[in-house]
Amino acid sequence: MLIKARRGWEIPEGEATPEQVFLDRRRFVAALGLGAGIAGTGLAGGTAAQAQGRDPTADLYPAKRNEAFRLDREVTPEKVSAEYNNYYEFSTSKAVTPASDALKTRPWTVKIGGLVEAPMEVGFDDLIRRMPLEERLYRMRCVEAWSMAVPWTGFPLRALVDMAKPTSAAKYVVMQTFHDKAVAPGQKQFWYPWPYTEGLTIDEARNDLALLVTGVYGKPLPNQFGAPLRLAVPWKSGFKSVKAINPNTITAERPKTFWEELQASEYGFWANVNPAVPHPRWSQAEERILGTGDRRPTLLFNGYGEQVAELYKDLQKERLWA
Ligand code: MTE
Repeated sequence: MLIKARRGWEIPEGEATPEQVFLDRRRFVAALGLGAGIAGTGLAGGTAAQAQGRDPTADLYPAKRNEAFRLDREVTPEKVSAEYNNYYEFSTSKAVTPASDALKTRPWTVKIGGLVEAPMEVGFDDLIRRMPLEERLYRMRCVEAWSMAVPWTGFPLRALVDMAKPTSAAKYVVMQTFHDKAVAPGQKQFWYPWPYTEGLTIDEARNDLALLVTGVYGKPLPNQFGAPLRLAVPWKSGFKSVKAINPNTITAERPKTFWEELQASEYGFWANVNPAVPHPRWSQAEERILGTGDRRPTLLFNGYGEQVAELYKDLQKERLWA
């Protein structure tokens, strides 16, 4: 597969963002009022519990499985999915551990601000105990054309968004990964538009499928999967599922997302899965299942059309596919 030869979906330096685009993005982030605030947020120190390898939320797992979410395939073995990750902050290879273990995930403050009536800053360990945790079996389809099926534990993104009471001007939920070069060597690579930024429309964020993930395989989330809090939006390409989120901001403007800013012709804002729309450099018709290597046809919206197609019925002029 072409992209394998390119070591994952590493973009050759020559195709990376020109400096001007990079600088414009910095100004955009500053305009959101996020730039300075992000550095180091939630990363200072680390509790004794983490140092000793105990997770303060371990008693919440395994959460009850919601049987409404079913798979058409076997769950990917943990050994396979936990050793094949995309996490550019730590590595451009799939082997992101042990580098990702350098991230201190406690204390971690979950922030939600911007166009909301009730901006919030809440400790992750407090938040999770107030949220309706459940386990869901989800498929995940990467734009690189591999897929996996994972038992995520988490709570609907809607629960967090609605708690903050978005104003009537709110249109997007912007989610960003921590930004700390001292911890994440990838963030020293200036040609990437750090911090990793993703976004959904408010309606997408309120869709029942949009899950904020805190655990996997019946345990708290390990770092390589995006601890302590990552997104899972299974009808979209995997790159929308941003890891180690901090902070969340509600905006009126559509954010420029990380991959869109790097290579807009290849990775768009919407990034819904569609087997009929090839990536400019490879087909999206099939996917390779991690673990077995089997190939099978990819489904429109990754098979979740019943739950999400309605969101896009008036948006046909948009480039809805990655
Ligand atoms: N989030 C951050 N912060 N950094 C990343 O490099 N990679 C994305 C997404 N979220 C990425 C990220 C991509 S390309 C994919 S396919 C998924 O995470 C991979 O999730 P997984 O490692 O749990 O399989």
